[in-house]
Amino acid sequence: MATFGTAAFAAWAPCRSLGWTTVSFVSHRGLSALLARNPMLAPSWLPACRQKSTVSFLSRPDLPKLAYKKLKGKSPGIIFIPGYLSNMNGTKALEIEEFCKSLGHAFIRFDYSGVGNSDGILEEGTVGKWRKDVLSIIDSLADGPQILVGSSLGGWLMFHAAIARPEKVAALIGIATAADSLVTQFNQLSVEVKKEIEMKGEWVIPTKYTEEGTYHIQYSFIKEAEHHCLLHSPIPVNCPIRLLHGMKDDIVPWHTSLQVADRVISTDVDIVLRKDSDHRMKEKADIQLIVYTIDDLIDKLTTST
Ligand SMILES: *[C@@H]1O[C@H](CO)[C@@H](O)[C@H](O)[C@H]1NC(C)=O
Repeated sequence: MATFGTAAFAAWAPCRSLGWTTVSFVSHRGLSALLARNPMLAPSWLPACRQKSTVSFLSRPDLPKLAYKKLKGKSPGIIFIPGYLSNMNGTKALEIEEFCKSLGHAFIRFDYSGVGNSDGILEEGTVGKWRKDVLSIIDSLADGPQILVGSSLGGWLMFHAAIARPEKVAALIGIATAADSLVTQFNQLSVEVKKEIEMKGEWVIPTKYTEEGTYHIQYSFIKEAEHHCLLHSPIPVNCPIRLLHGMKDDIVPWHTSLQVADRVISTDVDIVLRKDSDHRMKEKADIQLIVYTIDDLIDKLTTST
């Protein structure tokens, strides 16, 4: 059994990183245009320190309870779907929440089962279980049309959600979308290496994103994930889709976003490749791109009906 270092869950410490991660959210509307011209007026609605508040829980029959935070507001709502091993308190989740708050739109973030404050056992997590988590959040907590913002693994899962809930999922934003990614990477290994992983039951991948310097992926996780692959045939999703990807991504190659765009049946698909961004896309300019993209899709959804 793989054990995951606690570093992977390093809780977001309130106030600590605000100095450099906070972005002045400049939407195209009213007051914010003024702020854009006068950056010194910088966003006064951003609290000096984010409010510490507790999470809520979604109980489900026969499934682990999910921790979430929900902000009430206008439609469409926005749901942030985190990446592998990430919890609801990552930089992108919090920055997007602040942005939605400033616009007055509904927003939800949550922890997958086995992650953060949700119940469940991390080592038992599968793409299929986390897919169900996303559907539970959409079904039980989200009212009306939603824009899903999926990061990495969350980008893969958001396509599953759009396929399963076309009436509710109105638009998608993928950040370093990891569609099929672990399966694709596994299949690229040599026959010998694959055999060895199958025998050991575990695939150890070097990474700079955990303290111990490795991800431990169960062989069974890969096998289960194969059932959820999307890129082998047309993806039946027909809403506006925006795919953002860093060209310095060393976890999920940016070509994955091109493949997704190619396979999806929607024709309203834009891809933005950022030459200098890495997998996490959490630098100031990345966050700004993400929130502009949300703002733009809100405009599109609210003016096209
Ligand atoms: C996320 O932040 C909330 C406070 O907003 C806290 O209650 C919760 O424990 C944090 N979750 C994790 C996994 O650190």
